[in-house]
Amino acid sequence: MCGIIAYAGHRPAVPVLIQGLKSLEYRGYDSSGLAFVHMNKLHLFRASGKLEALESKLDSGHILHATSGIGHTRWATHGLPNETNAHPHLDVTANLALVHNGIIENFQEIKDSLSNQGVCFCSETDTEVLVCLISHGLQKKKDIKKAISWTLDQIEGSYAFALISRDHPGTIWAARQASPLLFGVGTGENFIASDIPAFLPFTKEVVFLEDNELIEMNAGQWSVFNSSTLEPVNKEVKTVSWDVQAAKKGGYKHFMLKEIFEQPKVIKDCLSGRINREEQKIILPELQNIAVPKRLHIVACGTSYHAGLWGKYVMESMAGIPVDVEIASEFRYKTLVPDKSKMFLFISQSGETADTLAALRLVKEKGFPVLGLCNVVGSSLARESHTVIYTQAGPEISVASTKAMCSQLVLILLLTLYWTGKNNPEEKNSISEAIKSFSSLPDVLEKELPEMQRRIMGISRDYSWAKSFFFLGRGIYYPMALEGALKLKEISYIHAEGYAAGELKHGPIALIDEEFPTFAIAPSDHLLGKIKSNLKEIQARKGKIIALTQAGSELNVDDELQIPQTWGPLNSFFILPALQLFAYETSVYLGKDVDQPRNLAKSVTVE
Ligand code: AGP
Repeated sequence: MCGIIAYAGHRPAVPVLIQGLKSLEYRGYDSSGLAFVHMNKLHLFRASGKLEALESKLDSGHILHATSGIGHTRWATHGLPNETNAHPHLDVTANLALVHNGIIENFQEIKDSLSNQGVCFCSETDTEVLVCLISHGLQKKKDIKKAISWTLDQIEGSYAFALISRDHPGTIWAARQASPLLFGVGTGENFIASDIPAFLPFTKEVVFLEDNELIEMNAGQWSVFNSSTLEPVNKEVKTVSWDVQAAKKGGYKHFMLKEIFEQPKVIKDCLSGRINREEQKIILPELQNIAVPKRLHIVACGTSYHAGLWGKYVMESMAGIPVDVEIASEFRYKTLVPDKSKMFLFISQSGETADTLAALRLVKEKGFPVLGLCNVVGSSLARESHTVIYTQAGPEISVASTKAMCSQLVLILLLTLYWTGKNNPEEKNSISEAIKSFSSLPDVLEKELPEMQRRIMGISRDYSWAKSFFFLGRGIYYPMALEGALKLKEISYIHAEGYAAGELKHGPIALIDEEFPTFAIAPSDHLLGKIKSNLKEIQARKGKIIALTQAGSELNVDDELQIPQTWGPLNSFFILPALQLFAYETSVYLGKDVDQPRNLAKSVTVE
């Protein structure tokens, strides 16, 4: 989505703003801009396309004198991705400049009312309406904080914005509602941003702003207020553990490859402090006051949904807990059947996915207990869940989710083992088997990945001609097949469908011919025989097959990639990176924008 950075301090602001916007590029954008006050004038620079286009416009002599300003990268929601619609937007008096993330749902009604009062608009955006409404409020209230508060009472929808005024050089105001906004506390300088990497090189001291909070800051001071009452709000300053390197590529060609290779470490980090090897127990203090659910309802989007679907198979078979899994954008608009035996689990890497948050709020309203599984400390999902478990995967920068899913599977398995231990104490041996296999898994995977990448690089080149792909799996590898298909299509733009292998003969096999290859997940488990017959059906129709197999499965296919064997569901941790690497190497070979695929954003904060 859009990226926001605001700065007030002792340095020239423009270089800080540009650097901050560059660290937010991964969020996806199609235009950018910045504004600052100098010599009692608001200076505005905007450009469509990549940040280089904006930088090429920064020719004014003022740019190195201003020590505060706001910047923005826009992912179009209202209005075309062009310079006119790029942020910042000014009010009609050119006294105020504002950058904004989110959607003002009643912007048209407000725009019409302001137009009837003689306000002229230059853009199609809801953001321009917002800054003009604040300006309108300023005429009434004669005080910017009061004007902002008055404005926020008029608008509906989601927002995170930063505002500057020609009449108040050096001061910045910001507020949020259902869209992330963070405050970075520096020494003689302060920052506001939509995500931590934007100011991480300058400070690790962070204040997480909440809904209905308004902050006023300058180089040396900051205060937070309730945006309705303007009562002061005390806020805690937290120190984040991510260093700049963690958010950089670390020598890899792409963030995605770095994050695929981080998965052994992610497994270790997820397990740390959560396994008691002596007592062969799972430790999840977050759940100590929560009863084992009789039924679990998992809600998520995209890759997180696939993790939830995988969790269904694992949790039902091991813990005996019935699990429903639903896509958030569907769940939020259907009838919620009251079932007090249910606990809801919301899974989200970013913790800011609009559909997932909307579904969470709906469920909370109905009084259901809400458990969140999230990767971003202080994100909306984290703060709005009754209980949150962090996946501790570190910042995931690439738009395509890889290590986040790995961390979600780890936590779902830990959750399953934890509840198994509570439900069936006699199941101790499956828990100790899992703990033993989990402990050795990261090192085995660490050794396996380089060779896996080498083999897959060759295979992916042989299939880069394909226009469509099937991904097939059975049991817990059906969600893996869905994920493999999503990865391939979202970063290589090759159409791909994930299917339960047994479904092939119910229609999809009509598509199979020499031009339509299949990627089969065929580990040596109890369903291998079934998969083998599916593959024979494909070969009878001249379909080419790549298969992920394990020792002893002797499949006669076009390309075979053997992966190590381990305990039960842990085999998924060898299969997942193989699927990710296949998509990655195909995308690289086809010359696609691996980390920022077209049309996609890292966090879908609008519905
Ligand atoms: C995954 O590769 C995609 N980028 C996308 O499906 C993502 O998983 C989905 O938007 C959910 O995001 P979340 O986990 O941050 O809620």
